[in-house]
Amino acid sequence: MKYHLQCMKCGERYDSSFKYQICKKCDSLLNVIYDEKKKFGYQKENSFWSYSEFFPDCNYKRFKAGGTNIIIADEDGLYLKVEVTNPTRSFKDRGSLIEINKAAEYGYKEVVCASTGNMAYSIAHYSKMFGIRAKVFVGKKANKDKEKLIIGTGDADLTEVNGDFTDAQKAAIDYSKEKGAFLTGDYCYRKEGQKTIIYEAMHDVRSADAIILPVGNATLLAGALEAIKYMKQSNAIKEVPKIIGVEAEGAKPLYTAFKSGKPVVREKVDTEADAIAVGFPTFGDESIKLLKELKGDIITVTDKEMEEEQGKFRKMYKIEAELGGVASVAAYRKLPQYGKTIAVITGGNI
Ligand SMILES: Cc1ncc(COP(=O)(O)O)c(C=O)c1O
Repeated sequence: MKYHLQCMKCGERYDSSFKYQICKKCDSLLNVIYDEKKKFGYQKENSFWSYSEFFPDCNYKRFKAGGTNIIIADEDGLYLKVEVTNPTRSFKDRGSLIEINKAAEYGYKEVVCASTGNMAYSIAHYSKMFGIRAKVFVGKKANKDKEKLIIGTGDADLTEVNGDFTDAQKAAIDYSKEKGAFLTGDYCYRKEGQKTIIYEAMHDVRSADAIILPVGNATLLAGALEAIKYMKQSNAIKEVPKIIGVEAEGAKPLYTAFKSGKPVVREKVDTEADAIAVGFPTFGDESIKLLKELKGDIITVTDKEMEEEQGKFRKMYKIEAELGGVASVAAYRKLPQYGKTIAVITGGNI
């Protein structure tokens, strides 16, 4: 769809040829605003690319992502949207495809991102396909096996910063400004790609009472909330499911803000669930606004609860999922029974 970009804070407007995902005036996040008033509609085929008419306009190269399965779980009314069959074993591939396509369309030869691991693996994977170099910044405590996966893609240059993910994010922004690399990561184009999880899942089940999603930087959560709102406005769904974000007990800045009614502030993180070890979520304030509007919620789970769930999941389905990936099902056990519930298993890189 035709679109422009707009600053979520100061409202500054940029046309789609603007090659940066952060506002030039106030350094805040930009959002994709579609100029066409196209209604959402289920497509014949249920795949990532079958929903491309709802993506930002771009001359897309259609590499593979998404089209993942829903498992009908043993528990009554529970459906598992399993993202580990994406090419780099996490849902990140959906957003990366949009971002790297935009980078290629704008003619970039290098992209840069900060990551807790999965995003950079995904970015490095697709940028290689486009012949684009990837520069990656990770925090000091990043998962070393994920670092190997990133380097293993062949064309990625990885730097560990002396700090956490939020410090790595600053390093990536500085690098993009200094070297002119295309800034990728938890920004607006990625959010558009992540929406396809909801389109695909709802395509399969058609109605749901609740959807549970792990939260790190809250890009997936914000995208899911926007997707559901769009589907409701288009009359594609009758009722809005309760959207529930799940943070680790040791990394819960969104939970703190949501429950206290105060803005999101940076918190220290301490969790083994590295994929969701984020102390200051980029899309935190946006997610809280939408959670309030759509009557969603935030819950936390402990590392022990995620570990137990990881074991159960392995035993039951013979599928390897990472701790942050199963945070959704771990949360399901602690929540009231909402009825038909989709839990997204976001990744499987351990
Ligand atoms: C497996 C997994 N689950 C969940 C998340 C959280 O997604 P978001 O950062 O969009 O909140 C991530 C982010 O890296 C992840 O890799």
